[in-house]
Amino acid sequence: MTTSRVINFGAGPSTLPQSVLEKAAQGLLNFEDTGIGIAEISHRSKEFVAFISNVEALIRSQLNVPPTHSILFTQGGGTTQFSAVVLNLLARHKLLHPELTDDERVMDYVLTGSWSKKAFLEAKRLGGARANIALDARKYSKDGVSFDNVPPHDEYAFSPASALIYYCENETIDGVQFSPDPSAQTSFPFTILPRERSGLLPLVGDHSSSFMSRPIPHLSEHAVIFAGAQKNIGPAGLTVLIVRQDCLVDVDAAAKLGATPVPLCLSYKTLAEGRSLYNTPSLLPIYITGLVLERMQELGGLAYFEALGRRKAEKVYAAVRAGEERGVFQGKVQAGSCSWMNVIFNVLGSGAESRFLAGAEKVGMKGLKGHRSVGGIRVSLYNAVTEADTDKLVDYMKEFVSEASSFCSA
Ligand SMILES: Cc1ncc(COP(=O)(O)O)c(C=O)c1O
Repeated sequence: MTTSRVINFGAGPSTLPQSVLEKAAQGLLNFEDTGIGIAEISHRSKEFVAFISNVEALIRSQLNVPPTHSILFTQGGGTTQFSAVVLNLLARHKLLHPELTDDERVMDYVLTGSWSKKAFLEAKRLGGARANIALDARKYSKDGVSFDNVPPHDEYAFSPASALIYYCENETIDGVQFSPDPSAQTSFPFTILPRERSGLLPLVGDHSSSFMSRPIPHLSEHAVIFAGAQKNIGPAGLTVLIVRQDCLVDVDAAAKLGATPVPLCLSYKTLAEGRSLYNTPSLLPIYITGLVLERMQELGGLAYFEALGRRKAEKVYAAVRAGEERGVFQGKVQAGSCSWMNVIFNVLGSGAESRFLAGAEKVGMKGLKGHRSVGGIRVSLYNAVTEADTDKLVDYMKEFVSEASSFCSA
């Protein structure tokens, strides 16, 4: 099959492995030798039911998800989960603590970037409990207003018995990510979180833009982990949920006690009981995701992608630092908080950013423009961006720096 594909560093939807897309094209015509394409076949056919079970098994084995947690597939993206986690976990808390008023019930949010802030605003809008900011990383930023860091552990102020504790593992827009090194002050402070009397944590993690790129620390302690597929594992249209089984609650019983009624398609219990087939799922995105996960497994699973991700990020950050020394680039995120997935930097000088983007496009690299809310350059290094693609970008960055610095000194 001939292609004229460019290297796509877009932040999501993002690039997918070519071999997967070629296989998926076959599946669009004839899924698993059924003679029916994946976009046409019934979600209740035995072939699709077997396929979706295998997608679940591939996630469970590669991420090491314990039997205490269900893996669910739904639609609506991360944004729908901003609402769904609030509704489900408030229903759970209402069942556990029916005596508390809405004012006494608290949801703790850790704000390290634009996505956690958006999730916090949705929680506040939905009501049913007080949305509290346990940490606002902007206070510790270089300019006092941007998200550019993960603050040290002793800056968090958690409430004692909250209905949920929310964080976003990788802030796609701001390029801020928690360190995977548990001894680093910029890791997520799992060990200081207040536990419920039962010992459980009402911990919710948005892992949309780092899912399946490296292991999830303390996975088994999470109440809910959610991720849109469209960064590392598939196309938009599929959202993966990992839900601890005590969070699959009877939302109607909670509503009888005064909790907000939960639409059935957002209820985790409904999704789990229907084995993610309560209503018609997004068959094509699930199919492509399954092919990506099979390929991941063949290549060596998370260990392979973690090592690859580390190398790619190190190479790009090294190029940013080299550009900083010559006064051409300026990294935005503080040391220790830099994302492996989204590298953010500015190109200094009037018109320099446009020149950088136009030059990149000329040599076949697209998707490098930063998010409209923060500007600059954003290099997204999701799993399907190869090391060769990364090397090509790094070469281009080096060339740009040497040309820009000779231009400045001329
Ligand atoms: C970390 C994170 N959370 C949530 C979202 C929202 O996802 P969606 O657009 O699929 O609703 C995004 C989208 O890029 C994201 O990067």
